Amino acid sequence: MSFRLSTRSTSLRAPLARLTTTPITRRHLSAYGYEQTKALAFTNYGEPKDVLRLHSHSISPAHKDLVTLRFLASPINPADINQIQGVYPSKPNFSTTLGAPEPTAVGGNEGVAEIISAGGSVKGFQRGDWVIMRSPGFGTWRTHAQTTTENLLKIEDKSGLTPLQAGTVSVNPCTAYRMLKDFVTLKEGDWFIQNGANSGVGRAAIQLGKLWGYRSINIIRDRSDPAATEAMKQELKGLGADIVLTDTEAMDKSFRTVIKEATNGGREEIHLALNCVGGKLVNSMAKILAENSHIVTYGAMSREPVTVPAGLQIFKNISYDGFWVSRWSDANPADKKKTVEHVLDLVREGKFKDTPFDEVKWEWETKGEELIKAVQGTLQGFRSGKGVFVFGKT
Ligand SMILES: NC(=O)c1ccc[n+]([C@@H]2O[C@H](COP(=O)([O-])OP(=O)(O)OC[C@H]3O[C@@H](n4cnc5c(N)ncnc54)[C@H](OP(=O)(O)O)[C@@H]3O)[C@@H](O)[C@H]2O)c1
Repeated sequence: MSFRLSTRSTSLRAPLARLTTTPITRRHLSAYGYEQTKALAFTNYGEPKDVLRLHSHSISPAHKDLVTLRFLASPINPADINQIQGVYPSKPNFSTTLGAPEPTAVGGNEGVAEIISAGGSVKGFQRGDWVIMRSPGFGTWRTHAQTTTENLLKIEDKSGLTPLQAGTVSVNPCTAYRMLKDFVTLKEGDWFIQNGANSGVGRAAIQLGKLWGYRSINIIRDRSDPAATEAMKQELKGLGADIVLTDTEAMDKSFRTVIKEATNGGREEIHLALNCVGGKLVNSMAKILAENSHIVTYGAMSREPVTVPAGLQIFKNISYDGFWVSRWSDANPADKKKTVEHVLDLVREGKFKDTPFDEVKWEWETKGEELIKAVQGTLQGFRSGKGVFVFGKT
């Protein structure tokens, strides 16, 4: 294997913006132009620390309808861990194309990559374009990949965006966006309530809700240090949250009174609840909803089931819905592109702030253990930020 700078030159007709935003990267090419690549891969389900390994292989030069991608940023989402554990409904793609003796899958479902070469029959995509994955299951924790463009969505305007912003737009912000829009028709001034409010999805819901004029009641978990709880409350209020309560406060007898006071004696009804935690907390949320409301469950961080009190269903006609962005994306690719582009416009306009990230640098020399350690911690609570692989010189 030889290491040398790519000799491929960028087209002279390429816009200046592309020339300035495309990083010059030392490429790892073999004598025959094969791209050397590394992936966090697994052949069996299990805990990430037990089953993931850093796997090296090579990718042939892009030809026909294939494009070669170099990843720029890929987040580590809770669902990615469940997928490696084998407990997630969307299964990874175990394949023999990675040059491993057994069928092997690559971890990660979300990310942004740059096209570094395109085959002769590729239309509508070119070298330098940034792309995200059309559907989950792609395997995004890798330095490079080769695919056809039907699996990709192009970021039409990457100006003013960081790879981190583009690489984390398609799951959490899209989930918050669709849950606020697709279950209940909220008008300006209307309320919604959510738990897990400091999660990536929760923060996106606060911000999008605020932009659309909705008011939010947000539930977070108590921190062991009251000052840290207060700091988290203030942080979410800074994003646009109207009310932030802890789960202890939301399960207390006083909860109804607090909400009644905030909603003009209960005259301002609450029709939408977003739930990614589960357990008894959901019943507290359900009790303050108006008739014909919707509780949308999209996660189960506490691993406790959602129990449905018969009275709330019969007499208040509360609907218990679920939302899964993967299913929605598969069914609505055009809407997914529009939703992604709308959020990215908001990011560019400075109206949508990043969730706190814990950047994990992935350079060519980075050891597998360091990358796997970053993945393993993802399901631990009280984290300071979401883990994201940010690729350097790969
Ligand atoms: N259905 C979908 O389409 C969809 C899409 C995106 C995300 N999700 C799900 O939404 C949830 C949040 O994802 P994310 O990426 O936004 O999360 P994230 O940014 O990684 O944050 C994790 C959140 O989970 C909370 N949490 C962790 N352990 C908990 C526990 N034992 N009990 C209660 N809360 C706990 C954390 O609160 P602390 O800070 O208090 O620990 C934090 O609010 C996950 O369950 C994820 O799988 C679903």
